[in-house]
Amino acid sequence: MRSACVSVELRRANEALRKLREEGLLRKGLIPKRAGGRLLIPVEDPARAAELVGGDVCEDDFEVSERGRTYKDFLKGALPDEVLASLPRSYDVVGDIAIIRLGEEQLRFGKTIAEAIMRVAKNVRVVYASLGVEGEWRVPKLVHLGGERRTETVHREYGIRIFVDVARAYFNPGLGGEHRRVAGLVRDGEVVADLFAGVGPFALHIARVRKALVFAVDINPWAISCLLRSITMNKLVGRLVTVSGDARDFLSVVADGVLDRVIMNLPHHATEFVPDVLPKLRCGGWAHVYVVAASPEEAARAVSQKGLEPVGVRDVIDYAPRKWVFAVDSRKPC
Ligand SMILES: C[S@@+](CC[C@H](N)C(=O)[O-])C[C@H]1O[C@@H](n2cnc3c(N)ncnc32)[C@H](O)[C@@H]1O
Repeated sequence: MRSACVSVELRRANEALRKLREEGLLRKGLIPKRAGGRLLIPVEDPARAAELVGGDVCEDDFEVSERGRTYKDFLKGALPDEVLASLPRSYDVVGDIAIIRLGEEQLRFGKTIAEAIMRVAKNVRVVYASLGVEGEWRVPKLVHLGGERRTETVHREYGIRIFVDVARAYFNPGLGGEHRRVAGLVRDGEVVADLFAGVGPFALHIARVRKALVFAVDINPWAISCLLRSITMNKLVGRLVTVSGDARDFLSVVADGVLDRVIMNLPHHATEFVPDVLPKLRCGGWAHVYVVAASPEEAARAVSQKGLEPVGVRDVIDYAPRKWVFAVDSRKPC
């Protein structure tokens, strides 16, 4: 279920939960969840709650606890104990589609797992297993487990409707806070290029809150096709430019020094594109570079080695044991 929330660093989570409980601000019946090295806590009065615990206001989908029960509680006795213990604690919800990360060996229990998820998450109509993200388009390999047989849905993120085809384009609902954060940094009049836009969440957020010239570039035409649907749904026609193609080809036709800001959310390869980006950024222009690394220092180093000046680093998604995706906010030195 969708709810306002506050996000706090994991090491401060217990203290935050205690304070929110004492003040009666915790939203009952919804289960807090981890995202990007932080705990997202559903709350009643987000502004007051954020001030109380020193966290950030957010909005996300949460699992509904049926008298404190999760989807795994509904599977007790239905699956062998070792299979149950190996299942992930949570799953993603994109619109009304749930996607759970499973291994090949857990798939044969898929139908039972899907039923348990749909019992707990009343808004979920479709359940897929993801066997991992693959290829240049970063598209998940999906196996249908239960519910309707469709892959298209509309996801809501801070009031924006995002059309997603989960089988044909990348989308991570755990990045909602990051999409909004970056949009909040853009100033009216800026020229912004989102070089690996996917279905366009950064670009849509920016176009909604700022009068900027925003280019959303992606090599996956299905992703751009989803973005076109979202532009219409959100009444943002004429507010952003979609480019279906390679980021390097786009950059090659941009004049030097005209971009105020670039967004580079292609965590394994973004730094390889920095040499192409640098001449196009104005002096002091911003680059938000997403990098897989084991520490903030390692992420900042990967960006500074390419000639950008890191200004701030924050972890945005857990990637693997002791690996995170970091957002490195950086500037072109003058
Ligand atoms: C991690 S996804 C980014 C999703 C999006 N920024 C978001 O926050 O949801 C990376 C995207 O980069 C695109 N991509 C990969 N290589 C590319 C290239 N050379 N030029 C443009 N887009 C590329 C993929 O198709 C994919 O949609």
